[in-house]
Amino acid sequence: MALHIETPLIRSDSLSKRWNCPVFLKLENLQNSGTFKIRGIGHLCQKAVATGSQRFICSSGGNAGMAAALAGRELQRDVTIIVPETTPVLVRDKLRGLGADVVVHGSEWNAADALAREKAQEPGCQYIPPFDHPDIWEGHSSMMHEIHRQLPAGVQPGLFSVAVGGGGLLCGVLQGMHHQDIGWADVPVVAMETNGCHSFAEAAKSGKVVTLDAITSVATCLGSKAVCQEAVDWCSRHSRLHSVVIEDKETIEACTRFADEHRMLVEPACGAALSAVYGDCLKQLQQDSVLSAHFSSIVVIVCGGNSISTRMLEDWKSRFDVK
Ligand SMILES: Cc1ncc(COP(=O)(O)O)c(C=O)c1O
Repeated sequence: MALHIETPLIRSDSLSKRWNCPVFLKLENLQNSGTFKIRGIGHLCQKAVATGSQRFICSSGGNAGMAAALAGRELQRDVTIIVPETTPVLVRDKLRGLGADVVVHGSEWNAADALAREKAQEPGCQYIPPFDHPDIWEGHSSMMHEIHRQLPAGVQPGLFSVAVGGGGLLCGVLQGMHHQDIGWADVPVVAMETNGCHSFAEAAKSGKVVTLDAITSVATCLGSKAVCQEAVDWCSRHSRLHSVVIEDKETIEACTRFADEHRMLVEPACGAALSAVYGDCLKQLQQDSVLSAHFSSIVVIVCGGNSISTRMLEDWKSRFDVK
């Protein structure tokens, strides 16, 4: 049995009015472990157990670790999560609460990941990457099969908004869209990142994986210095894939407006996807004729996130002068 649940797809009245078309929110913030990550990581961990793995070692900014810790608890395997110093104490405590060993290493995820790969050399250990694995993409693609079933009869998706960190979610979404039972290969996707975590934007521009010098955005869970090769490969397989980079202030505005309108708290990584419908970037792409002037509908993947509290949101609001 899968370790994830089917999440609701709701129609947002306020956003549908704003866009003059149905806007749907796929509520992966309600997913087990607090994000979509359990879909892919749960699938990978189940396969690892079937081939004899005794222990999971995962590197994570926080949310992949939450998924691996939950999978370990459900599958009765010991779990070690290596997180960078940027992972808030709040999240480290949540990981320990799920029974995982937490090791803090390095100033950003790439350093934590190097240690995780080294530790996973021990016999019986399975390295759990946070985004770069075919089983992870396959697990994430289950979300698209659900959306396909959940959309009201006769409604076609006109655009998907997806946040991109290392690109695992994007790969899963696109894999699902191109599945023969779904047939959404011609639907536009906006790949949303914040400035300072914009490794997909750089890769899409140059056609190859580009490594950023540093992660400088508050959306630390999008903070992989480079996306996976598979995400770059999708740029040529899905012609309607558009990279969008927003500022930190816009992601905090989106988190704030989403909390006020829909009464749910999500972290800045998720705010990036929501800013497509709360900010002006889609309108700009429409004006530039990159996107059509009218959408049949918009679907936002509300990817969720554990790195958030009312206190953190208040601090970011005052730092970025968000009213
Ligand atoms: C809440 C949230 N949204 C989006 C992402 C991006 O996912 P990916 O790294 O698969 O691109 C992450 C990654 O950790 C995340 O935690």
